[in-house]
Amino acid sequence: MAIPAEIAAIGSRAEAMLAELGAISSEPQRLVRLYLSSEHRCAADLIAFWMREAGMTVTEDALGTVRGHWRPDRETRLLIGSHIDTVIDAGKYDGPLGVVAGILAVRELAARNADLPFGIDVLAFGDEEGSRFRTTLAGSSACAGVFDRASLAFPDRNGVTLADAIKAYGKSVDDIAAAAYDPAAVVGYVEVHIEQGPVLEAEGLPLGVVTGIVGQSRMRVIVLGEAGHAGTVPMRMRQDALAGAAELMLLIEQTAVENQDDGMVATVGRIEASPGATNVIPGRVGFSLEFRSSSDARRKAAIEQIKADAQRIGVKRRLEFAFEPFHETSTTACTPLLQNLMAEAIAALGLEATRLPSGAGHDAQVMASLCPMAMLFVRCRGGVSHNPAELASETDMGLSVAALVRFIEILAARDAGQRGRT
Ligand code: GLV
Ligand code: MN
Ligand code: MN
Repeated sequence: MAIPAEIAAIGSRAEAMLAELGAISSEPQRLVRLYLSSEHRCAADLIAFWMREAGMTVTEDALGTVRGHWRPDRETRLLIGSHIDTVIDAGKYDGPLGVVAGILAVRELAARNADLPFGIDVLAFGDEEGSRFRTTLAGSSACAGVFDRASLAFPDRNGVTLADAIKAYGKSVDDIAAAAYDPAAVVGYVEVHIEQGPVLEAEGLPLGVVTGIVGQSRMRVIVLGEAGHAGTVPMRMRQDALAGAAELMLLIEQTAVENQDDGMVATVGRIEASPGATNVIPGRVGFSLEFRSSSDARRKAAIEQIKADAQRIGVKRRLEFAFEPFHETSTTACTPLLQNLMAEAIAALGLEATRLPSGAGHDAQVMASLCPMAMLFVRCRGGVSHNPAELASETDMGLSVAALVRFIEILAARDAGQRGRT
């Protein structure tokens, strides 16, 4: 398919913006941009600059979400957003593409002097990855009015709590409630995101309509044994917390493999063994555990199974296991009507509109508790993400902005038509 020059130009513009954002990192050799850090501030200022350049006024809420308002006088708003924080050693597309696509779509609509029945707010959230605090989706939760204030006490690795970090960023926790949108004033939420998986590439398609987002359970597992001399305590007399944790980890992997027909995955991504010396039997281990699956019931059952396994290993090895949950999101369906409108927008570009679920979490998941929600996936090379090798092509990004603009126009025509009938 020949790509029109305007779409190619928008794709190049998106790539240039993402490269500029991707250079804002706390480390010179890899991309690390944590929530409420000085790099977050710097990225937020750049986003605000681009929003103004595209014709938006800009505000920032108590959790640092940058909000670009186009046609602020309109009573109802379509929200377009994604996140600008990153994982450790990130690629530059996961999150920022959705913000940049929103800004470029507004720029396009402004250039066409589009007359829509609603205004648009482009939202750049600061905490989707949960890389700094155990909390995740803080900014979008505040916008959706479901922010959990208990997370304000969560510390980062240096003991700085989320509440302290909000204050140091120049914001006040007293203003969090005011960040919530009135559901009556919101038409919907739409997010453009790289797929982060291999399906679109395998199907040879640049864009896809997301059907839903898998649920997640995250927790910390603590294993208590007894530290001792690595040379003198015989194997049969040990209470080795790390060996017990390792046995449980293999059962975690096996449980997810046995449930993979519903897309279940389980990951232990971080582990600390104490005291952490070559010649000391580990007395205490803490590790992160995350389960995802498209069935909330099966995910919960798998976690209960793991707890029972831990109990059994504990008796056998004389260890204690404790599970401390800190994040739970249910499986969330994208709004069927908006899925159809997104498919229509993709088809209007002459492309096949395939549908696929998301195994990754997204701000869209909590925004769905506020309003109708849709997501547009963009093909990424090799399905690679959470990795500096992450790549979306300029052409595919240009097409995603064109599809987003078309989606907005279709939604606007529908909205105007409905008003005409009432
Ligand atoms: C976010 O990227 C997640 O799914 O962990
Ligand atoms: Mn993301
Ligand atoms: Mn991510």
